Amino acid sequence: MAIELYATAGSVEKDLRNHVVIVVDVLRATSVMVTAVEHGVRFIIPVSEVEEAVDMARQLGNQRVLLCGERQAKPIPEFHLSNSPLEYTPEMVADREMVMTTTNGTRAILRAKDARVLLLGSFLNASAVAHVARENGENIAIVCAGTNGKFSLDDILCSGAIISRLLELDDLARTALTLYDSYKDDLRAALAGSAHVERLRSLGMEDDIRFCLQEDVMDAVPCYVDGVIRDSYA
Ligand code: MLT
Repeated sequence: MAIELYATAGSVEKDLRNHVVIVVDVLRATSVMVTAVEHGVRFIIPVSEVEEAVDMARQLGNQRVLLCGERQAKPIPEFHLSNSPLEYTPEMVADREMVMTTTNGTRAILRAKDARVLLLGSFLNASAVAHVARENGENIAIVCAGTNGKFSLDDILCSGAIISRLLELDDLARTALTLYDSYKDDLRAALAGSAHVERLRSLGMEDDIRFCLQEDVMDAVPCYVDGVIRDSYA
C-alpha cells in the first residue's frame, strides 16, 4: 500500500483518478461533516461559494434543507448552521439535507472530486476512514485542506493519526506520522500556538477545538459521489 500526503489541496498536481483520496480539514469542515453523517443527515452537497449554496438550497426546495458553513471561521448571515460541530446534533440534522460551503474544506473536496473513491477524514473517524480506505485500494492519497493556501498543522497531525492506521509512506506522510506518534497522548500540545488553533481561540471557539480533537468516537465515513456526500456504509 502506498500513501501520499499533500499539505494543501492546491499542491495536488497529479491525476488522482486511480487513488482513494481522504480529504482532511480537521478544524473544522470535515469534523463537521463526519459529525453530521454520524448523526443521521441524509446527504451533504458541498459547494464553493455562498451564492451557489443559496441557489442549490432553492433548487432542492424543501423544508428539510439546511444551509451550513462559514467564511473565515465565522457564521454566514441567514444560514441555518455555522461550522461548529457542536451544532450538528442528532436533533438538528437527522433526516435533513445539507448544502455546505466553507472557506477551505468544501473547496478541497471539490478539487479532489475526480478521485476513484473520495472519503472525508478527521480525528473523530480516524480508524473508520482508514478501514474504508484500505478496503477500497492500494493507492491512498491524503489531501489536507490547509488554510488559505497554507499548510495547517492540525491537518498534518490528523493525517498522522490516519496514517498510523495504514502504512508505506512518502516523506510528508512519514513526517506526519512522527509528529502524531510524538504527541498522540496530548494532541492539544502539538497544536499549541499553531495558526488555525490560535485564530479559533481568538474567536472564542475553544469548545470546537476540544470536540475536533477527540479520536475514534465516530464510525461515519462520509463519501463523495457525483456531487453528493453520504455515509459510505449507507
Ligand atoms: C474551512 O473550511 O476553512 C474551515 O473549516 C475553517 C473553520 O471554520 O475553522
